[in-house]
Amino acid sequence: EEDERQQMRKALDLAAKLYHHILVATEYGKAARQYLRRRNVSPEAIAEFQLGYAPPSYQFLLPFLKKRGFHEELLEKAGLITSRDKGSKKRYFDLFRDRIMFPIHDSQGKVIAFGGRLLGDGRPKYLNSPESPLFHKRNHLFNLHRSRSHMRKEASVLLFEGYMDVITAWQAGICNTVATLGTSLTDAHARLIKRNTDTVYICYDADNAGQNAAVRGLDVLKGSEVAVKVAQMPVGLDPDDYIRQFGGTAFKEEILAASLSLTAFKLESLKKNYDLKDEDQRMKYLAEAIDAIAELPLAIEQDHYLRRLSEEFQLSLEALKEERRKARTRKK
Ligand code: UTP
Ligand code: MN
Ligand code: MN
Ligand code: MN
Ligand code: MN
Repeated sequence: EEDERQQMRKALDLAAKLYHHILVATEYGKAARQYLRRRNVSPEAIAEFQLGYAPPSYQFLLPFLKKRGFHEELLEKAGLITSRDKGSKKRYFDLFRDRIMFPIHDSQGKVIAFGGRLLGDGRPKYLNSPESPLFHKRNHLFNLHRSRSHMRKEASVLLFEGYMDVITAWQAGICNTVATLGTSLTDAHARLIKRNTDTVYICYDADNAGQNAAVRGLDVLKGSEVAVKVAQMPVGLDPDDYIRQFGGTAFKEEILAASLSLTAFKLESLKKNYDLKDEDQRMKYLAEAIDAIAELPLAIEQDHYLRRLSEEFQLSLEALKEERRKARTRKK
């Protein structure tokens, strides 16, 4: 058992080294190098993140590792190769083909899985290693082993969706970042975060998928004693796009500094369900907003948001407080 895990680790490490070598030092890696250069990924970032390239062949990594004594069953279990039944025989072949490879490490910095991105269009855009004895998506965060010390120093972490967001931020000197691995945030992720830092900035994409994931992420983090802020990305941009266009300083000063508290974010999301120019709809929004505010644990927090509503909609604070009182009695 332990020996098998050891073998898998060795195979994954060799695979990362081979893919990296192909990317940086061979003719096969040329198109991938050009792709990364177009996206402004620096040679330093390629080295730091140990990025690689898996050539288009079905039989590339497999023969390389077989020659070094690894068995197919083990390599399949490690998620490096896959198989198809052919009559009574199994046919094994490389899982990752023609993809930029992003190694995923455990908290000790050992490679446990990969994400692979196609150079062009096609599906899936990213292919991640399947679950394995070493890799459980729900327990691991991309970049955690690099960012942990920064999370502690800065007392905060930026939670991204993607590998490229992490890498571009790193290039801009923002190192307290992690990304989930193509899944939504889990309780285990929340515990890893809480163990290392006080404040989480959820920096998901501005698209629908990203915003829905942010709402789910908030629910997961709600119970975990960390302060949560939600960054509002401009429509159509993810953190990678934003930092490439405007730089890391702008990202901190314009996006992080303006990110919303949990309650403000909820009120903003609620707003999207109503047409506020219509008076009836505006009243319905206000009723819902006051319901949400009435549930806040701290009286000062409730006061703060009622005051903001009163300013935003030109209504007396007294009237809003009266509605809050009604909302509370309704709940009982
Ligand atoms: P995005 O679609 O936002 O991709 O998915 P991205 O990170 O911005 O990628 P680029 O900029 O086009 O290269 C965010 C994350 O969701 C997971 C990956 O972890 C990705 O980084 N994902 C996305 C998948 O697992 N599979 C997919 O097909 C797409
Ligand atoms: Mn694990
Ligand atoms: Mn997206
Ligand atoms: Mn994205
Ligand atoms: Mn992107």
